[in-house]
Amino acid sequence: MKALILSGGKGTRLRPITHTNAKQLIPIANKPILFYGIEAIKEAGIVDIGIVIGETKNEIRQAVGDGSKWGVKITYIVQDEPLGLAHAVKISRKFIDQDSFVMYLGDNLIKDGIKSLVEEFEAKKPNAQILLAHVPHPEQFGVAELLEGRVVRLEEKPKHPRSDLALCGVYMFDQSIFEAVDNIKPSLRNELEITDAIQYLIDTKMKVHPHIITGWWKDTGKLEDMLEANSIILDTFTFKNDGRVDDKSKIEGKVVIEKGAVIENSVVRGPAIIGENAKVINSYVGPYSAIYFGACIESSEIEHSIVLENSHIIDIKRIEDSLIGQNVEVKKSHSRPQAYRIMVGDSSKIEVL
Ligand code: TTP
Repeated sequence: MKALILSGGKGTRLRPITHTNAKQLIPIANKPILFYGIEAIKEAGIVDIGIVIGETKNEIRQAVGDGSKWGVKITYIVQDEPLGLAHAVKISRKFIDQDSFVMYLGDNLIKDGIKSLVEEFEAKKPNAQILLAHVPHPEQFGVAELLEGRVVRLEEKPKHPRSDLALCGVYMFDQSIFEAVDNIKPSLRNELEITDAIQYLIDTKMKVHPHIITGWWKDTGKLEDMLEANSIILDTFTFKNDGRVDDKSKIEGKVVIEKGAVIENSVVRGPAIIGENAKVINSYVGPYSAIYFGACIESSEIEHSIVLENSHIIDIKRIEDSLIGQNVEVKKSHSRPQAYRIMVGDSSKIEVL
């Protein structure tokens, strides 16, 4: 079997971060989301991985390389425009060749990995296997309708969902998916929808096997989901200190301090991670925070947030529930006139007190 990771797309829901960066490389607990997917695929015994890339192709190529650091072989497949998940399958035909494959959305995280799912697919040999999860807001997802354990209908983001079973971002297909993607038309949003391709399989009497997952799964396409995924992963950590903590600081609970990190006169309450060469000075870093490499938190309080590399937060009373991009500076101004002075990118969101 092969694997296909989809890492193109527009990432509109995570602007402004995705104006300049690939959303699949945003770190969750200080590790790019995409790397969790590669690890899950490797753990399932699959080493031949195609990655579909779009506008952010160079960044993804640079971060992942040839896959040797995971012991896998990566082939890059360039999608010139994000014309849909089924379009990504269509352009990957040469790479897949005569194999079956797992399709994994590069911004998704699945707690229990995919090993048992791949084994189930290989044992039952359906034409497709889809993963479903009960969700509170099915209208935001592809939704499946089951009848006596069989999938009878799939709809993409329906206004009136027929069930609360959302399609999760991992699919398994045999060769019949290629006939399906050749026989569907673009949707109203001008994408070739994977739901339409799977519906084609159902309509042509192919076997589509549903697997309802019970462990958590997260599509990290939105800020709240990304913060939640960050919290869930941080919760699995245990205390580790590879940095330097002075004796005026207090480290409580599951905190990982990476190499070269410095903590001075501060309280860090886990679960939290302080990245390589990051600095926490005269500050409080609260539960569910991930501070990426080279960042600096000084005379500030932060909790339940992700701070990307080399950003500085100085003299800020308190930050919560936030995602702060790379090389950002947030600091209290002491100059007159007293005013907010901001330079923010397009589509940013700022809530001030
Ligand atoms: P989505 O999150 O559904 O789409 P998107 O990335 O365009 O984001 P948004 O809705 O916020 O604009 O995509 C799921 C995954 O599949 C994600 O990793 C991007 C990838 N993808 C492709 O590789 N090619 C495509 O044509 C599309 C639509 C998505």
